Parts: sequence; structure tokens; C-alpha cells
Amino acid sequence: MKRLKLAASGLEFSRMIYGTWRLLDTKPTAQEINRRLHACVDLGITTIDTAEIYGLYEVEQALGAALALSPGLRDKLEIVTKAGIYVPCAYHPERQTAHYNATGARLVKSLEKSLRLLGTDRVELFLVHRPDWLTRADDTAAGLNQLLRTGKIHAAGVSNYSASQFDLLNAHMEKPLATNQLEFHLLHHDPIHDGTFHQCEKQGVLPMAWSPLAGGRLFDSKNDAAQRLAVTAQSLAARYGGATLEQLAYAWVMAHPSRPLPVIGTNKLERILSAAQADKITLEHEDWYALWEAAQGRRVP
Ligand SMILES: NC(=O)c1ccc[n+]([C@@H]2O[C@H](COP(=O)([O-])OP(=O)(O)OC[C@H]3O[C@@H](n4cnc5c(N)ncnc54)[C@H](OP(=O)(O)O)[C@@H]3O)[C@@H](O)[C@H]2O)c1
Repeated sequence: MKRLKLAASGLEFSRMIYGTWRLLDTKPTAQEINRRLHACVDLGITTIDTAEIYGLYEVEQALGAALALSPGLRDKLEIVTKAGIYVPCAYHPERQTAHYNATGARLVKSLEKSLRLLGTDRVELFLVHRPDWLTRADDTAAGLNQLLRTGKIHAAGVSNYSASQFDLLNAHMEKPLATNQLEFHLLHHDPIHDGTFHQCEKQGVLPMAWSPLAGGRLFDSKNDAAQRLAVTAQSLAARYGGATLEQLAYAWVMAHPSRPLPVIGTNKLERILSAAQADKITLEHEDWYALWEAAQGRRVP
């Protein structure tokens, strides 16, 4: 598995990242999660993406329990976590309305809780999960800068920010933002056109691409685009050593010149193994556009 430097932050991440949003969907034991993390490390997928809200605030604790089973495992990983989304849940029955909160004080409190649950004293990267329309950028930055200064986070970044929101927050940062984690896959092309990927490329910031398989919709037999993509993928497979739609979809994401890091979400070990092979695929120009056409259901204009 290749590794890439997140410019300015000094961090190096694996080319593909393992995402834990769905981690608890199959109710795994701590031992099973521990085995999965070891399998990722063995494949060179050393960067793990999580968030305070995942599993309705339960994933980080499960990860912490799994990490505790193997002393030393945590140090083989780069951990990315996020905060800023607060929804009604069993832990907070008083909450009536889901909301975003990216005030500095709230982010610091959330990150400190994440460290406790994960059983670590720092994370490599901390992201503001969603833009909070009510908070001034200097307030958000004050919290992130405080966490950077204390060494509780090595770098800060954002997720789901527009280019202008990124610029505004970055202007208040003591250390430049290290990434913007965005939805990008064959069924969602916005970052190519809305300026976010251009901004990353211009600033030498590597974006992360969430839901690189469209959250599984790429395999939905009722989805017309998925059907067209299945046919196109079959016609391309031989040229890429028998690559599957899944592998071509990851390669399609990674081919964008801003070099997005796909955050993969499968709970199946065999699919993690297969995903890791996509790192070796470099799509020909024409084939990338053939997949674009199949996804869009129209010719390249
Ligand atoms: N920043 C954000 O706002 C944000 C938002 C969403 C996600 N994320 C991050 O991105 C990560 C990945 O998101 P995601 O889980 O939506 O990613 P994804 O990789 O696009 O989708 C994973 C889903 O697709 C299914 N799948 C994979 N291969 C399949 C196949 N061949 N046939 C049928 N189904 C298949 C998986 O099921 P199996 O488990 O059965 O394989 C799983 O349910 C998350 O874990 C999280 O870390 C971030």
C-alpha cells in the first residue's frame, strides 16, 4: 500500500483509509475489531477514520476496547477523528434537535472525550465534521489551535466544508488545515465541480473521499447508474487484471489529480483485502471517462 504525505502537516497516511462509521452494524466483539485492525495494518492500511458520533457515540469506545487488547497496535495507526454533530440519543435524552456545534470550547470537550474513549493521549488528525452555520471561524480555530498547541492533535482539518468555508477557517489557523473530507464517488461528482478539489490541489492539501462505493449503492440492482457501471466495469476488467467494479471504483476516486484518499467502509475482511488491490490500478484517461459516462448516463460533453 502506497503512503502519501499530507503536505504541511508532516503526516503520512496510507493511500486508502479504513472507515468505522458502520463498524458496529454487525455487532462485532472487541476481539473481532482487533483482528480487523491487525488485518488492515498487515495490508498497509494504517490510517483509521472514526468520529465521535459514529454508532450513535459508541464506535470510539469499541475501538478503544479493541486497541487495548494489543499494546503497541495504536502506535502502528494514524487515527483520524471528528466532532461537531450532536443528535438526540440514549446518552442525551434532553437533546431534542440534531445540531452542529463547532465552537472551540465544544470541539475541545469532544476531542478530550474521544481521547479517553480511544485510550490514547493524541490523535494524528482531528476534523470538524460539518460546518456549523452559527459559529464564527475564529471561535472554531481557537479550539483547534489550542488542541494543536497542547499536542492532543497533530493536525486539524475539516469535513464537508465548501471552498470558501475552508479558506475562512484556514485564515485563523496557526497550522494550516490538513484536509477536507468530502463525499466523492462514481455517483457523486460535486467536489470536481464545486471548487473544493481545486482548492486542495492548489494548496497541496490531500482531500479524503468518503463513501467511495456510494455506501453500497454501486451494487444496487435497482439503480440505473449502477447497472450501467456494472456493464462498463466488465468491459474494462481484462485491461486491469480482472479488476472488479469495486476496485475500479476506488481507482476512479484515487485518479483525480487532487489525489483523494478513499475512506472505505466495508465490514467484510475479504472486501478489505480486495480493496487494497485497487492501490495498484492506474486507470487510463479514456477508461476514467468511460466510467464517468456510465455513471452519468450521457456522453462526455
Ligand atoms: N465525513 C463524513 O461526513 C462521512 C460521511 C460518511 C462516511 N464517512 C466515512 O467514510 C467511511 C466509508 O463510508 P461508507 O461506509 O459509506 O463507504 P462505502 O465503502 O462507500 O460503502 C460501504 C458499504 O458498501 C457495502 N459494500 C461494499 N462492497 C460491496 C459489494 N461488493 N456489494 C454490496 N455491498 C457492498 C458495504 O457492505 P459490507 O460491509 O457488507 O461489505 C457497506 O455497507 C465511513 O466509515 C466513515 O469513516 C464520512
